[in-house]
Amino acid sequence: MLGRRSSTIVFALGCSWDIFGALGGPVQAPVLVLPPEAAEYRQKTIDVFETSWTAYKEYAWGHDDLSPVSMSYSDAYGGWGATIVDALDTIWLMGLTDIFEEALNFTTSVDFSVTPTDDQIDLFETTIRYVAASLATYELSGYQYPALVEQAKVLVDKMAYAWVGNNSVPYGYMNWNETTPVVGTTNIAEAGTLTMEWGTLSNFTGNQTYRKLSEESVIYIANLPPPLPALPAQDFDPTTGQFVGSYVSWGGGSDSYFEYLIKWARLSNTDNNIFADAWAAAVDSSIQNLARTSTVLDWQYMADWDAGEIIHIGSHLECYLAGNWMLGGKLLNNDTIVNYGLALMESCWNTYASTATGIGPEYFGYFSSDGNYTGSTPSDGDIAFYERHGFFIYPGESDYYLRPEVLESNFYAWRVTGDPKYVQRAADALDSFTEYLPAPSAYAGINDVDATDSTFIDDMQSFWFAEVLKYLFLTFNDPSVISLDELSLVDVFNTEAHPFKAPPAKEVYGSGTPLSTDPSAFRPISAPLPVISPAPAVAPLPVSSGL
Ligand SMILES: *[C@@H]1O[C@H](CO)[C@@H](O)[C@H](O)[C@H]1NC(C)=O
Ligand SMILES: *[C@@H]1O[C@H](CO)[C@@H](O)[C@H](O)[C@H]1NC(C)=O
Ligand SMILES: *[C@@H]1O[C@H](CO)[C@@H](O)[C@H](O)[C@H]1NC(C)=O
Ligand SMILES: *[C@@H]1O[C@H](CO)[C@@H](O)[C@H](O)[C@H]1NC(C)=O
Ligand SMILES: *[C@@H]1O[C@H](CO)[C@@H](O)[C@H](O)[C@H]1NC(C)=O
Ligand SMILES: *[C@@H]1O[C@H](CO)[C@@H](O)[C@H](O)[C@H]1NC(C)=O
Ligand SMILES: *[C@@H]1O[C@H](CO)[C@@H](O)[C@H](O)[C@H]1NC(C)=O
Repeated sequence: MLGRRSSTIVFALGCSWDIFGALGGPVQAPVLVLPPEAAEYRQKTIDVFETSWTAYKEYAWGHDDLSPVSMSYSDAYGGWGATIVDALDTIWLMGLTDIFEEALNFTTSVDFSVTPTDDQIDLFETTIRYVAASLATYELSGYQYPALVEQAKVLVDKMAYAWVGNNSVPYGYMNWNETTPVVGTTNIAEAGTLTMEWGTLSNFTGNQTYRKLSEESVIYIANLPPPLPALPAQDFDPTTGQFVGSYVSWGGGSDSYFEYLIKWARLSNTDNNIFADAWAAAVDSSIQNLARTSTVLDWQYMADWDAGEIIHIGSHLECYLAGNWMLGGKLLNNDTIVNYGLALMESCWNTYASTATGIGPEYFGYFSSDGNYTGSTPSDGDIAFYERHGFFIYPGESDYYLRPEVLESNFYAWRVTGDPKYVQRAADALDSFTEYLPAPSAYAGINDVDATDSTFIDDMQSFWFAEVLKYLFLTFNDPSVISLDELSLVDVFNTEAHPFKAPPAKEVYGSGTPLSTDPSAFRPISAPLPVISPAPAVAPLPVSSGL
């Protein structure tokens, strides 16, 4: 374990990770010295990748996901081999040359114009996995394989039909073979997480339509009167152009709408300040309206909100917020925001550090001094857990679904501060994974993170390869590889951990004046909530699996 030697390392580095004294601008800490044990954990990450890949290849090749318990497969993402495509850039970064050739060859020969499945195809998932991985790999591998751009174009040209008439916001799903949208409600994560991929495709193809469509969707939502200042409601009806209900959250279903506001500003260096200003305003409003601390141990969290009521919950998905605020705080030269990100990182890590497996659950509840409504009634055992750990595992949400967000933010915390404790936490998580997740084949999620003998979840998601193992690998690897601000080769990760090259950073992002919105004009409609991506447990609230 890295912990054994961390005190020596702290001594050697002095306080080089003291972000309070840092100047604004650069995202990464000036001094990043990996502890010596990092090399061993880097190799261990590659070993886990190869074990997972070998099982996928044996039992699920060409399908979307391996089912690691039944040693079979599932096809929930179009049936185009989601695991192979989503893993491409991780394979490249790990230097696994033979696997790369095989995966590239597969990707460039898939017929994306039709789906072999009966499913309606999700714009968001298709964009963040297939389109993003193809374009990021094209960039990373030095523009050698233009067929990857051609494949992304087939997908995006099809999805461009999700904008109907003069709707600014696309429908969330396509009847793929028919090239017609599935008319229905969507959410802001689905509608607001296309800019990085579609904008990059515009650059590679010269066709600006992709960028315009994806930007227009975000701009429309950002300008629509929200239920709370600068915080749009989660659900949306493209037909009427109105919000559905008033649910506000940084968690699944809303999450990457906020995430991409600042990442798109950084990636595109656009002169249109609405993206950075909307992000700054959302952050500011969240600090004023949603930020709470737990009565036990003072953990920082961002509550959810619905029709005037605060809901004291957090989630694994929402833990991306910690890293996103560190990144955005740096880009806005605002240490208040960076420090919120670091505090949120501590409470997210606490959900790992507090369980029997050392792995965090899907949803958690808190109590604050001004309220304790969570939408569920905690048992005596939950309250006793809360008294010890300052959060409780939300009833029915004790699973770990191979999600990346806590290790994603932990990667940002390491790169932003240079504090080796984050490298140690990554190593601790990897040790927990190799102890508790080995399934009949490869690795599987577990139904109860607080049991050392939990049953498994029979689905190895492609984000295990694309995100979890990539963020672990990068945490243990030379920090100049995929640097968050190396001149002219800056990488901004999409929400599935695919890095895009960005131009040198501007001095500051945004106009300095947060976007002004008018909650008094908020006019939600009621309509059926959108069909959501499959989740392993029944969500307590209308939330999706938005990554
Ligand atoms: C690439 O695919 C083609 C046809 O599917 C196959 O013949 C060839 O051997 C493959 N090459 C590699 C390196 O896998
Ligand atoms: C779409 O077309 C493919 C290829 O013709 C076919 O295998 C598949 O069943 C079709 N899917 C639907 C939903 O009709
Ligand atoms: C650009 O892409 C859009 C969306 O797919 C398409 O309708 C349009 O024809 C393309 N323009 C050109 C010049 O290819
Ligand atoms: C487009 O919007 C205008 C008003 O904003 C409306 O009158 C018109 O009917 C819309 N057209 C379509 C095709 O929806
Ligand atoms: C597109 O290219 C321009 C000019 O090279 C660059 O400034 C911009 O960041 C690129 N945008 C994206 C989304 O890659
Ligand atoms: C930094 O962000 C916080 C939170 O939004 C805000 O209150 C503060 O005014 C910002 N500081 C500067 C210098 O802009
Ligand atoms: C929750 O709040 C209610 C009402 O203020 C209070 O009676 C109750 O003790 C609180 N429960 C916990 C576990 O803090």
